[in-house]
Amino acid sequence: MCGIVGYIGEKNAQEIIIGGLSKLEYRGYDSAGIAVLTKDGLAYEKAKGRLAVLEERLEGKPLTGSVGIGHTRWATHGKPSDENAHPHTDAHAKFAVVHNGIIENFLAIKEELIAKGYTFVSETDTEVIAHLLADMYDGDIVSTAQRAVRRMRGAYALGIMTEHEPDKLVAVRLASPLIVGVGDGESFIGSDIPALLEHTRDVYILNEGEMAVLTREGVELYNAETGERIEKELFHVDWDLVQAEKGGYDSFMLKEINEQPQAVRDTMGARIDPETKRVVLPELKMSDAELATYDRIYIVACGTSMHAGLVGKEVIEKLVRVPVEVAIASEFRYRDPIYTPNTLVIVISQSGETADTLAALREAKKSGVKVLAITNVVGSSVAREADEVLFTWAGPEVAVASTKAYTSQVVVLNLFALYLAQVKGTQTPEQIAEIVDQMLQLPAKIGEILKRTDALRSYAESIKEVNSLFFIGRSLDYAVSLEGSLKLKEISYIHSEAYAAGELKHGTLALIEDNVPVIALATQPDIYEKMISNIVEVKARGARVLGFALEGDEELIKTVDEVIHIPATLPFLTPLLTVIPLQLLAYYASTARGNDVDKPRNLAKSVTVE
Ligand code: F6R
Repeated sequence: MCGIVGYIGEKNAQEIIIGGLSKLEYRGYDSAGIAVLTKDGLAYEKAKGRLAVLEERLEGKPLTGSVGIGHTRWATHGKPSDENAHPHTDAHAKFAVVHNGIIENFLAIKEELIAKGYTFVSETDTEVIAHLLADMYDGDIVSTAQRAVRRMRGAYALGIMTEHEPDKLVAVRLASPLIVGVGDGESFIGSDIPALLEHTRDVYILNEGEMAVLTREGVELYNAETGERIEKELFHVDWDLVQAEKGGYDSFMLKEINEQPQAVRDTMGARIDPETKRVVLPELKMSDAELATYDRIYIVACGTSMHAGLVGKEVIEKLVRVPVEVAIASEFRYRDPIYTPNTLVIVISQSGETADTLAALREAKKSGVKVLAITNVVGSSVAREADEVLFTWAGPEVAVASTKAYTSQVVVLNLFALYLAQVKGTQTPEQIAEIVDQMLQLPAKIGEILKRTDALRSYAESIKEVNSLFFIGRSLDYAVSLEGSLKLKEISYIHSEAYAAGELKHGTLALIEDNVPVIALATQPDIYEKMISNIVEVKARGARVLGFALEGDEELIKTVDEVIHIPATLPFLTPLLTVIPLQLLAYYASTARGNDVDKPRNLAKSVTVE
């Protein structure tokens, strides 16, 4: 995830900015850059690769000055390269911008600027901001930035400076995190607290839609939209550096679970046109006509990514009526899959480096089948080798247990299903618009679930000594059960099985006896009554059942021991909500047992061996 650092004061800006960026390395990045106001004007340097590459370039020709902005980039629009690295400037290098997040309507603004004669040197959405500022500049960078922000839709954070006003930095937060530090005769911008901790512990945590104007004398805060002044309290940070890297959370996993509203919002980002309520996938190279020819899909992946595929299968089959088979990559690569001329293979991989998934991709390509990848890492092997790529914009996932990558993968699969439905005409524009509306509400609903953790915490405490438990569900609830069970196993080390509820009585019911914990998902209206019957079956054998139901469901509690409610949405979007408490449950069970949540035993984040 991109990192932003800015400095205005009396000290050497380059040193402070590079130092700050190094504290943001944990967020993951693929290139870095810096711009400083020197005595000769605005100067910048940027480089693909680690911060050390940038530092090497600066060695012979340091940027000397006391005002500057810097950035570590985690590629979204455009590959990792020197040109795409930030800061971006206008053609005369009078304005420099660093940016984290996504400008959803950048293409429209870019086209408008190109028509006015502006030329672009990068593939990024960020570069439009620099040109837009130059185009709109009225002699006051604060009012210009405010007007520019009104033009830009999306979830982003910005650091802005201009040679025209060398005693000011501007910071804007629209959804992507940004903080502003206050020192003695100096002020700082950072996308996270660790970047500033060495210099100040007094920070303003900007809220969505807030803008900060930084000078050596202090910081003024504004509503970015209206330009009205805002007063807010300084936050004094008493965390140490390790705590700060985890955003104050106890672990990266908990941080990443809590980042899901943002990850889902970013992944939908520019792919939903809010006016037409249709899905746009400009990154697909193939034509709509070609896409429409596919009538059979394999989804191939491992672990959690494969579980995301199981949800995707149901959604694609429901909306598009195209048969989808989900395969475990380590099996698929040694199979002899039956490809028809109109088969599409979709591989899903958070890291983009999983050996089995990569091998399956190569096998499919060798057979002449088109491969579309869904991955979180730009520049990864999977991204480079696939014919088509749809990125999840979840930001780097550090914890071994995948959370925000899963939800982002499911979002991409939903978007793909909708796009395919548009192209094939299997859903009406009204149906698409209704689904899009519901998808746009998901980040807020995930946020609601994240606030209600007490019941999950105490349930986790109650299972910490058990040897085994069961997850049961039907259709999409079964797909989510598989993921809930995997999460619990991998970080709490409690054995668990996920079962299609209707399958229990064909064998596994023999394991249900007094007090065996069963987690029963009953969020799918179509098969709700069948699910209740299955719950009654386990209750009759003495199981202790925690049920998951939709908000407003007063029935389930009559059958189970405890109920967790999930905000209502369309049935096939519910997995994106149900999975959140299951992740939290695994997390609390793991901490209750004293495990290392982020680094479970025997597991690695990226499985690059077979
Ligand atoms: C579980 C988990 C793994 C990965 C699997 C595939 O929490 O993270 O099951 O999902 O190893 O990894 P990627 O998605 O990187 O291919």
